[in-house]
Amino acid sequence: MQSAVAKLLIMSAFITTASLAQTSASTPSKFNTLATIRDVMDSVVDPNADALWDSVRTEINASGAHIYQPQSDADWLALRYNAVALLEGGNALLMPGRRVAPQGAGTDPEIPYAYPPQQIEAMLEAERPVFNGFVAAFQSVAMDMLRAIDSRNVAKLDEFGEVLDQACEACHSHFWYPPIPGN
Ligand code: HEC
Repeated sequence: MQSAVAKLLIMSAFITTASLAQTSASTPSKFNTLATIRDVMDSVVDPNADALWDSVRTEINASGAHIYQPQSDADWLALRYNAVALLEGGNALLMPGRRVAPQGAGTDPEIPYAYPPQQIEAMLEAERPVFNGFVAAFQSVAMDMLRAIDSRNVAKLDEFGEVLDQACEACHSHFWYPPIPGN
């Protein structure tokens, strides 16, 4: 006799197969992908990463060196929200059917050497698993940061901030612009 767990597993395998069949057909995505990858970068990924990067820093001015780090419960809670938002921003990037930028939009004028969005879309079409691999690496750092925050470990929060920067750069130097020489 099958255990309840085995029955559940079999049931979920059926459900997974059914939903895979549905998404591989030409049915529209069940996710709302109105926002572009550019939007997700500007509204979710970038501001939350900035808040995490800024949380541990040293500023030097006329009155000397000032060390900033999270102190209060509220500081740590705010950082927790930032790390969760990064993690979920990663999920947003994994959703199929999301455009890179609005129809007809060009490259960011500040980054003239970037690939045009149409070219990035063609790359995504051809190399989706590579892109998803960069997302997984990025989410893994977001989880490391979340753990550092939950254990209130300032040194680890700082250390993983560097790793986060590398995770952004790894994807960008493949899918956004050619690798910067010397980097
Ligand atoms: C899995 C890939 C991937 C990861 C990881 C990623 N990005 Fe991006 N990012 C992109 C792509 C693709 C673009 C280019 C979109 C475009 O043409 O505007 C982009 C563009 C951007 C832009 C420019 C948006 C604009 O308005 O032109 C910013 C800012 C940005 N990313 C910040 C970040 C930061 C910060 C991180 C890490 C915390 C990060 N990204 C991680 C893929 C990624």
